[in-house]
Amino acid sequence: MDPAITAAWRFEDGLVYLNHGSFGATPLPIQQIQSELRARLESDPVGFLWRTLPERIDLVRQELSGFLRCDPGGLVLVPNATHAFNAVLGSIDWRPGEAILMTDHGYNACRAAAERAAERYHLEIHVAPLPWPVPDGADLVSPLLDACRSNTRLAVIDHVTSATAIRLPVEKLVPALRERGIETFIDGAHAPGMIDCDPDDLGATWYAGNLHKWICAPKGAAFLQTSAAWRERTFPCSISHGWNTPMAGRSRYQAMFDWTGTTDPTAWLCVPDTLRFMESLVPAGWAGIRDSNRRFLLEARQYLMDVLEVPSPCSEDLLGSMSTLPFPRGLEASQAADLRRQLRDDHAIEIQTLEREGKAWFRISRQLYNGMADYEALAAAIRKLRPGS
Ligand SMILES: Cc1ncc(COP(=O)(O)O)c(C=O)c1O
Repeated sequence: MDPAITAAWRFEDGLVYLNHGSFGATPLPIQQIQSELRARLESDPVGFLWRTLPERIDLVRQELSGFLRCDPGGLVLVPNATHAFNAVLGSIDWRPGEAILMTDHGYNACRAAAERAAERYHLEIHVAPLPWPVPDGADLVSPLLDACRSNTRLAVIDHVTSATAIRLPVEKLVPALRERGIETFIDGAHAPGMIDCDPDDLGATWYAGNLHKWICAPKGAAFLQTSAAWRERTFPCSISHGWNTPMAGRSRYQAMFDWTGTTDPTAWLCVPDTLRFMESLVPAGWAGIRDSNRRFLLEARQYLMDVLEVPSPCSEDLLGSMSTLPFPRGLEASQAADLRRQLRDDHAIEIQTLEREGKAWFRISRQLYNGMADYEALAAAIRKLRPGS
């Protein structure tokens, strides 16, 4: 492995980290930059937060919009994808009886936020069932479109699903839903840094992405991109000065999201350095990182399927830097949480596990710091697992 990559991450001694999908790991030089920013903030809190923060955020917005190839006018920073979804749910002028369309591959935090909105605004939640395992060539568009009803107001679609780690065909779904008059929220929590996002090309009403996962920015860095028609009606979860106090050079939408109350903004401010640092690690920059992670992931996945004798639950074209596989025979009906605990406690391997369709599954990820030895350690450890009680 390239020494620059080895030097960039430090994990607890002996820890095999194969769960970048749950929480990304921030490189040491970026941790250092964040510490310096914090020290500067604390050395002059008013100067930093009142006088220079707006311009600093503008610079982040500028660089990030270049990376995402989207209009900076629609781009705001948020602490995480969950916050972005809650902001959207709270911004829609719901009428009782309207419906939110989701899929059964969605992330539970978003499901929970939708349930809360449904309770509060008297909405229905419709869940489109998607296959798992996904047969080759399966149609992932029709199940969502078939689940649309005359009262469907908003469709929530993961760009890359969390538990099953597959790409959903948002390029086909967004225009088809728009034609039906349905607003779209694309949950791109895993997308930036893993696959091309292109929120503007996609044309969704809202696109949210995490920067603290595959971009490797510090925790608390994420974005929301809002289509032009909704910018003046999309509000953060916490309303502050921007509501009634115009800020020079910024739309009200931006002013409201840029300041939601006193907080530590250093994760956001590290985004440009993180983009540049990560890019410097691989000759072809971000395209090279995405490509390297995907190629490596596919190799590791094939290795695990071979040695554990487990079948592929989906075709390779649905995958980015993560993949979910079944536990081998003898473990398949075990409790996934117990298998995860055994892997962590007895083998120092951090990995996501889940139960679905009455079976136990595990999800691997690949970030630049992972080598084949990590997956070999995982295979050896899985062979030693005891069925969960
Ligand atoms: C698909 C999906 N959406 C949303 C989230 C929530 O991300 P956060 O906790 O950063 O808000 C996750 C987290 O893993 C996710 O996988």
